[in-house]
Parts: sequence; C-alpha cells; structure tokens
Amino acid sequence: MTIQQEKKTNVLLMGGGGREHAIAWKLAQSPGLGAMWTTHPGNPGVAEFARPVDVPVDIKQAYRLQQFCDKHEIGLVVIGPEDPLAEGWADALATPERLVFGPSKDAAQLEADKAWAKQMMRAAMVPTAEGRAFTSAEEAKAYLETRDEPQVIKASGLAKGKGVIVAQSSGEAMEAIDRIMVQREFGDAGSTLIIEERLKGPEVSVFALVDGRHFLILDASQDHKRLGEGDTGPNTGGMGAYCPTPVIDGAIMERVQREVLVAIVDALRREGIEYRGVLYAGLMLTPAGPKVLEFNVRFGDPECQCLLPRMQGDLLEVFKATASGSLDRVDVEWDARSACCIVLASDGYPASPRTGDAISGLDEAGAIDRVTIFHAGTTRNEKGEIVTAGGRVLNVVGLGDTLEAARARALEACDLIEFSGKQLRRDIAWQAIGEAATS
Ligand code: AMP
Ligand code: GLY
Repeated sequence: MTIQQEKKTNVLLMGGGGREHAIAWKLAQSPGLGAMWTTHPGNPGVAEFARPVDVPVDIKQAYRLQQFCDKHEIGLVVIGPEDPLAEGWADALATPERLVFGPSKDAAQLEADKAWAKQMMRAAMVPTAEGRAFTSAEEAKAYLETRDEPQVIKASGLAKGKGVIVAQSSGEAMEAIDRIMVQREFGDAGSTLIIEERLKGPEVSVFALVDGRHFLILDASQDHKRLGEGDTGPNTGGMGAYCPTPVIDGAIMERVQREVLVAIVDALRREGIEYRGVLYAGLMLTPAGPKVLEFNVRFGDPECQCLLPRMQGDLLEVFKATASGSLDRVDVEWDARSACCIVLASDGYPASPRTGDAISGLDEAGAIDRVTIFHAGTTRNEKGEIVTAGGRVLNVVGLGDTLEAARARALEACDLIEFSGKQLRRDIAWQAIGEAATS
C-alpha cells in the first residue's frame, strides 16, 4: 500500500512591506506549504522565502498573472495591501481551484471609498463619527462654517494613510479642504472628501477573519500613528504597535463584534457583497462607547507584525479556511506573551524619506532571543548590501512575559541596528504600561 502524500499548496503573496514579510515568515512555518512566489522580490525579507514572479503585475493585463498562477499551480493567493484589493486582484485571480485570501473589489470599497463606507455604516447603524461627504470645496467650506468644534477632514479614496487631517483650528480645516480638493495633494483620492466630528479617546485596532459567514476575532492591538514620543508630531503609517492590549476589555470586544463587525458584514451582504478576508476596524474608545474611525480590508501594518509572532498554529490553513468559507473548522491559539513592534524609520520620514543609507547590525540584533526583525523599506544595493529604500525601514518585534519586557527586548535590538538618520519611538505601548506621555 502506498502512503498518499497530501498535496502541498503553492502560494502567491502580493505586497512587499513589513506586513508581507511577517506573513511570508509565518506561512513558511506551515508543513503544507509548497513553493511561495512574490510580486515584490525587492524586499530582502520576503525574498528569503519566496521566488520572484516573472510577469508584469498590472491589472490591465491581469491575464499575465492569471497564466502565471495556472502554470505554477498556485492554490492560494494572499493579498497583503489595500491597493491590489481595490484594483480587483482577488476577483481576477480566484478560480474554482484557486483560493484567494483577501476581499473582492466591491468589498474593498469599505476602505477605498470612505464616503461609501460611511453610508454603509449609517445603514448598518454602526457607531461612527458624525460626518458628511462633499464633492465641491465651496460646499465643504460652507458646511465647515456651520461647525463650532474642530473637525477631521479626510480624502475619500486611498491615500496611503496620509489623507486624514485632524484639524486643530477652522483655519487648518479650511486649508485641508484646499489641499485635498483644490491642490489635489492626494490625486483622485481627493475628488470626494469627508468632514467629520473629532472623536477623543484611546485608539485600538481590531481584526476579524471573515469567511463570508463565520468570524474569528483576533487579539486586539494598538498602533502609534504619530512620529514623536508621547504621541506628538505628524501622522505616519504607524511607528509601532503592541499586542494584546488592555485598553479594550472583553465586554467592549463583544460589543464591537456585534455592533461593528457583524453589523457591517450583514449590511454588505444586503448589497449582494460577500466579505472574505481580514476586516480591520480602527476604533476610538470614546466615553460614549467604541466608534469606528475607519474600516480597512487588510491587516494593519505594523499591527500584523506583532500579531503573527504570537499566533500559534498553521497560518496557511487559517488563510485557506477563510478563503473557502470553513473558518468554523479552525481555531487559533495565542502565545500568552506580549509582543511589541518598534518601527525604525528613515531620515526625513514622513515628509521626505531619504533612501540608500547602508544598514548595519541586522545579524547581531536578529540573534537576540525572542526578537524577530521584518523588512519593510529595505533593498539590496548592487554590492549586495542592505540599504534603506522607504520611509518605514524595519520592524523590530520583541516578545516578553510582560509588555515592558517585550519592549525592552525590541529596544535592545533597535539599538544594535544603525543607519544614518534612524528614527524610532522608545515609548511604544506607553498607554498600556501605564506611563505618562513623555513629551
Ligand atoms: P484613518 O485613516 O481614518 O484611521 O485616520 C488616521 C488617523 O487619524 C486615525 O488613526 C486617528 O488617529 C485620526 N482620526 C481619524 N478620524 C478621526 C476622528 N473622527 N476623530 C479623531 N481622530 C481621527
Ligand atoms: N497601522 C495602520 C494601518 O495599517 O492602516
């Protein structure tokens, strides 16, 4: 009798940041993984686990990547970032034989069209900031004049996390309208904008895996969007995160599940849209309860980098179950330890990140017990050295029995890594550790 070997799954991973390096690293631990392929071989961390795709990745020629997937018998496509989801790659690559982890183009509007997302939230009675959408700068300004409180101005489309201006004054809000709609700082993402009330409270990121019907809520985490310690300075894509967070308790999580996650997925279904993938609710815990700041249709970056090192079990199986509607058959266990992810950012980030600076100390830092380093914005130069290639350069994750211990480990590693103009925050998790803001 021959022993039938279970067929391994070949994976195509789309996206090339720190989040995708973390996904590749975790998928590589799966016994069921066959070959892994990447659309972003320039990321040296991803390239360690995945081979480069050798066709153009362009949605107008989607057939090229479709043929590639057929030829290499890709059984699962994992789409990390929002842009390819909004472009419709999940729809383009899914076949009866090939699963895709990531929502359809229609579902991805939840992130790519904030005005539509607001409408959906209203229809589903999801608690969120009061807001209105505008397509004319004059009307937006006229509305702003009727408001007493400071307002938040958002470009409706995808703007790499930069299209939100939390105005401190009405002058700044007026200027934000001009930047978005007149100067078109965010291009077409700013043809519609939203003006919404400014909420106050701690922010938390809640992720749920959704397979169309079933939900698997992951441990909540907290991101640190501001560049400076004590949550000061300009907004960034995120300077660090930690997980789990005591900021949200079980009772609030249950409320979020019912009033936010299930409510919005039901509302999408009523529009004929089935949600499959990660659903990310960016929440503010206000005195009146949790309210949604935004929905995203992918894992948070850098939250994912502290989630995955704590996830026990087989990520490949979890992704396949999500994509195939069988999430009820998997359970995810979490390492009880805390994880703290610190972002090392380049000189000039976020306004004008400098690239090409040589990075040293990666091996020494990576050798520290319970430290994992993910590449976010790095590349190899012609000499084969690793150099900075973007704003957020590296994600250094420490694990520890306490958050303090996790952060101390991450910092120890961060201090061994050098590049010119390196920026980092040493206060990640300050709210949870119970420190006062440091500046
Ligand atoms: P978003 O991309 O919509 O999450 O916005 C980016 C950041 O802007 C959030 O993480 C918040 O820190 C802030 N923000 C967004 N909307 C609001 C709001 N209504 N009130 C206060 N802060 C907000
Ligand atoms: N960490 C925030 C985001 O991924 O949008």
